[in-house]
Amino acid sequence: MKIGMLTSGGDCQGLNAALRGVAKTLFGALSDLELYGIQDGYKGLIEGQWRRMEPHEFSGILREGGTILGTSRQPYKTIQNADENNMDKLTMMLKNYENEKFDALVILGGCGTHKTAYALSQRGVNVVTLPKTIDNDLYGTDYSFGFDSAVAKAAEVLDVIHSTAAAHGRIFVVELMGNKAGWVTLYAGLAGGADVILLPEIPYELNSVLNIIDRRNRIGRRFSIIAIAEGALSKEEAVLPKKERKNGGSTSGSRLVRELDERLNQDVRLVVPGHFQRGGDPTPTDRVFCSRLGAVAAELILNKRFGRMAALRGTSIIAVPLSEVAGKQKIIPPDCEALAQARLLGISLGE
Ligand code: F6P
Repeated sequence: MKIGMLTSGGDCQGLNAALRGVAKTLFGALSDLELYGIQDGYKGLIEGQWRRMEPHEFSGILREGGTILGTSRQPYKTIQNADENNMDKLTMMLKNYENEKFDALVILGGCGTHKTAYALSQRGVNVVTLPKTIDNDLYGTDYSFGFDSAVAKAAEVLDVIHSTAAAHGRIFVVELMGNKAGWVTLYAGLAGGADVILLPEIPYELNSVLNIIDRRNRIGRRFSIIAIAEGALSKEEAVLPKKERKNGGSTSGSRLVRELDERLNQDVRLVVPGHFQRGGDPTPTDRVFCSRLGAVAAELILNKRFGRMAALRGTSIIAVPLSEVAGKQKIIPPDCEALAQARLLGISLGE
């Protein structure tokens, strides 16, 4: 069997662990396996960049961040654009897959990646996918790998900020990743003891943030920690046309800091951990998750059950048809239990 593997979209912790899981299982099951690593995601498939890989190349990578295959973003909306030779990228990928006589592709990626994976599978490519994104917004799986590791990194920032915030009696705004989905901010905020958690799913009232700071000051808590997702908006911003929301390229955290600065007689500071959240080792939970996903993805290939994503449902790894995944996004639903529990804990969601 001749199989190609690629990692696509923004990187995250656990990509190597998942590649290792697939490779170990396939090499263990097939004596005639030819496994190819496709370079830099779909870009490598478009440009014909891949190389044969040996079992030893998957040793010692279980806990390594990044991806040994490299990755890139190939937005789905550009995949169908024709080039100067009147050939679109989807067709180029298809041609390369057929010319190389691949039997199947293993694709690791998030929402955008899955749209393209589904389009390829609809055109006859044998595809099996794994759910990767720190944003945890992929539909069809309870969690995506990389999420737990990113939450650990973000929570570490919130933990560390506590001591300096307390020492100076300051307000800290910590801006975390997540444009449309606030999962990282919600979970890291809970893990890191944030006083306020502001999410893209719940436009916030500045006054309610000010109230909680005031309430804490009155009981002798001189500092407050606000975890805000990069895609969070105030109620006023949420009703503006999209282009006007960012007010000259500002970020959610910087806008909030400006508003608080104008109204408080207290130091306000901004911390933006950015890609720190996507770097470093995967957590043990992610390593286990990736290894299990890898084994099941390989099994799907061995059983020729293509057009599916290995996914977590409850405590089981199951196979979900790509038609149920592609083109959807899993944002935090209003009835999410963790939201209700955050409220019970006295955390302000800016409502
Ligand atoms: O999709 C994951 C993500 O980390 C988002 O949370 C973030 O907005 C974005 O990627 C950052 O993208 P880039 O790595 O291209 O700067």
